[in-house]
Amino acid sequence: MDFTGYRDEFPVVGAKAYLISASLGPVSRRAQAYLQEYMDAWATKGAPDPVWGEDIFPRMASVKRTFGDLVGADPDELAITVNVSLALSAVMSCLDFSKRHKIVLSAVDFPTDGHVSLAFRRRGAEVVFLESPDGLTVPEEAYRDAIDEDTALVIVNRVLYRTSALVDAREICRFARDAGAWSFVDDFHGAGIIPVDVHDLGCDFYSAGVLKWLCGGPGLAFLYVRRDLLPSMEPLVTGWFGQREPFAFDLQHLDYHPTARRFEHGTPAAPVAFIAQAGLDIITEVGPAAIRERQQDLVDHLIARADEAGLPVRTPRDRTRRGGLVNLKVGDEAMKVCHALLDRDVCTDFRGDGLRVSPHFFNIEEDVDRLFEALRDIL
Ligand SMILES: Cc1ncc(COP(=O)(O)O)c(C=O)c1O
Repeated sequence: MDFTGYRDEFPVVGAKAYLISASLGPVSRRAQAYLQEYMDAWATKGAPDPVWGEDIFPRMASVKRTFGDLVGADPDELAITVNVSLALSAVMSCLDFSKRHKIVLSAVDFPTDGHVSLAFRRRGAEVVFLESPDGLTVPEEAYRDAIDEDTALVIVNRVLYRTSALVDAREICRFARDAGAWSFVDDFHGAGIIPVDVHDLGCDFYSAGVLKWLCGGPGLAFLYVRRDLLPSMEPLVTGWFGQREPFAFDLQHLDYHPTARRFEHGTPAAPVAFIAQAGLDIITEVGPAAIRERQQDLVDHLIARADEAGLPVRTPRDRTRRGGLVNLKVGDEAMKVCHALLDRDVCTDFRGDGLRVSPHFFNIEEDVDRLFEALRDIL
């Protein structure tokens, strides 16, 4: 496959060593074109109804279809939200913590998973954080031991955001299911770069935003809800777009939409769907399986260069055990290093004392080499 042909699609990757898709995937020319189509429709159609009916709603339906195809979900099992925080809050608002009160997640999951969980202590939840023995990952057995008949919800990050270590989400969803608890997979760092089928994963809920590996920009996330659960789900975090007939304008009855749309809220952020479509289209065209192969070749190259440079690597060396980014220990000055790299047109980010370097399928070995040349100067 000619991955480099896609470099033209993303203007920034020609200008910089863009090694930061785990933070913000680059914008494509296609996104600019789709967004312009929306702007043109809005500017020319005169009345709002046609823009909603002919442009915005069809686009929202098509992003659901495209994302659904990528992760194996049917469109009516998907809700569109703004971010994972809102998706998780809506899910948690369906839980009755007086029956089962524990929420289990790991201490190395993304912070918002912890924050939303902690907020629900006011509704009776007890939050159990599983510690990471090595700072790299959390063993599956820790989940198995912590999940019991008191557990309401288990949250799993399929790929950990700091180290990129893979967690066996399928197995953990099984632990949850066996104990009668629900499972929520936060797949922000896996969707698009590691093939997945949500039905096979066996999760009750699955969520990912589009701004990182999916190159779809900030402001749009998906929530998958297992079909069998839908009729019993009554989110307290809701709005008129989550209703069966939003345009009946009947404020005196709460009648949730029969599909996963019941997890939607108010007026959607229309422009982001146009940007998101472009990223999702490109990732679909290339395909998560091909992306994974190419990305892991780049990650191998990156780790080899880090070894040569003597920089500690805090990402699994086994390509089957990691996602798309590499965490390099550069020390307490990681922020300064990151900014100095930016001055040399090398884009990375940092967390604590680690530099996160995240090549995507459109990167080339020379981008990685540019990073290490710059690091040799800076360090
Ligand atoms: C695993 C994970 N979950 C969630 C988020 C973001 O959450 P939200 O969509 O609520 O901003 C991130 C990163 O931005 C993440 O890495």
